Amino acid sequence: LSRDSFPKGFVFGTATSAYQVEGMANKGGRGPCIWDVYVKQPGNTGHVANNDTADVAVDQYHHYKEDVDLLANFNFDAYRFSISWSRIFPEGVGRVNWEGVDYYNRLINYLVKKGITPYGNLYHYDLPQALQEKYNGFLNRQIVLSTTEDYADYAEFCFKTFGDRVKNWFTFNEPRIVAALGFDNGINPPSRCSKEVGNCTDGNSAIEPYIVGHNLILSHSEAVKRYREKYQAKQKGSIGILLDFNWYEPLTRSKADNYAAQRARDFHVGWFLHPIRYGEYPRTMQEIVGKRLPKFTEEEVKMVNGSFDYVGINQYTTSYISNPTTPSNVTSYQSDWNAAFANAKNGVQIGPRANSWWLYIVPWGMYKTVTYIKERYGDMNVIISENGMDDPGNATLPNGLKDTTRIKFFKDYMTQLKKAIDEGANVTGYFAWSLLDNFEWLLGYTSRFGIVYVDYNNLKRYPKMSAYWFKQLLEKKQ
Ligand code: GCO
Repeated sequence: LSRDSFPKGFVFGTATSAYQVEGMANKGGRGPCIWDVYVKQPGNTGHVANNDTADVAVDQYHHYKEDVDLLANFNFDAYRFSISWSRIFPEGVGRVNWEGVDYYNRLINYLVKKGITPYGNLYHYDLPQALQEKYNGFLNRQIVLSTTEDYADYAEFCFKTFGDRVKNWFTFNEPRIVAALGFDNGINPPSRCSKEVGNCTDGNSAIEPYIVGHNLILSHSEAVKRYREKYQAKQKGSIGILLDFNWYEPLTRSKADNYAAQRARDFHVGWFLHPIRYGEYPRTMQEIVGKRLPKFTEEEVKMVNGSFDYVGINQYTTSYISNPTTPSNVTSYQSDWNAAFANAKNGVQIGPRANSWWLYIVPWGMYKTVTYIKERYGDMNVIISENGMDDPGNATLPNGLKDTTRIKFFKDYMTQLKKAIDEGANVTGYFAWSLLDNFEWLLGYTSRFGIVYVDYNNLKRYPKMSAYWFKQLLEKKQ
């Protein structure tokens, strides 16, 4: 495997997100986001391992030069980072925090100077707390329908301010996670739940996840519309969305299991990919969710349909799916799938487990994912926008640097990706998650996804073996 194994112009990068790496959470004029509040909720400690917060994270805010230098040294072409909405607009709307704008200008300028192409993502779970309090964030249609169109205004500010240098945009990272973990099982902020699921009290009969999903799609397409109307021609850039997609393999060859796996794919990636590609929700979702699923008006269909230049797919894992013998008596987004998950078949595990409970290492799932997208959604430009693993077991210094499992992970997944590309899949980039160990949401700092180790005592960076593996892989032979 080498750079030349992939098509000419194929982009290799790493990805991070603002909340997970920046630090300076309540400094530099940044307003709080819903995660700041969630990790510190009084009487509710235990959300995050060790009650960790991202107040400091890996302090990329101050270490950005060092981090970009690392990218350049390891021969990467691109860096996918996210912009913190509340660092730009501390109240979500209105007043601009120019100190925050300056930070992103410094980061972007330094990337450009070092020859690293910036990929800017506008939203990675970090809704300004002010908008949560004002109108329940994405649960309220105001975020798209108010005259200010808050999200699109924020997006447009970024296009206008950074778009001369950032030519690659994403509107949202994993909207499914926003809607499902925030409003179905409530394990992420704002921590609302479908009735009888999770342990929140505000049971919502499994309507909220779909409203939120709908508003995210509308917000996404409104931002794309503005980009296309006002900026794209002049700035010559592209825009898309980032979707998580685990591969779902039917447990047996039965019709029922096949259909269950199809439902799982539709409820997972189709929820968002179907509307932006075909202007409507997948048939399975329409049938199962029925009246609880919002409808797009004719006007909205026009705006939503085709609202992307490329689609980023975050691909990590795969599981088996079968048709449950007893249907669930709970109504929730998750039970709407009506699918049973399994990580083993006939007692054989689908793959070794990483540290995260959900992450089984299944390289062939990458091939199936990419091939499926081509079959079901046609020849669209796909970017693998995240792929990676956290080290199982004790991965602290010095052992943490010898990440041979991670090297094998990357090698095997990329080999499967190459196979799909060789067979005609239109994939134009690959981003490893992540450049650095960082704040892994509910797992806090107990999970390390980086190709660069971070010592959290002093924030020193130590490249792992996998970083040197990439350096060699990405060497340009002239
Ligand atoms: C997500 C995000 C990343 C995660 C990564 C590993 O999937 O939630 O895009 O922020 O850190 O996927 O879990």
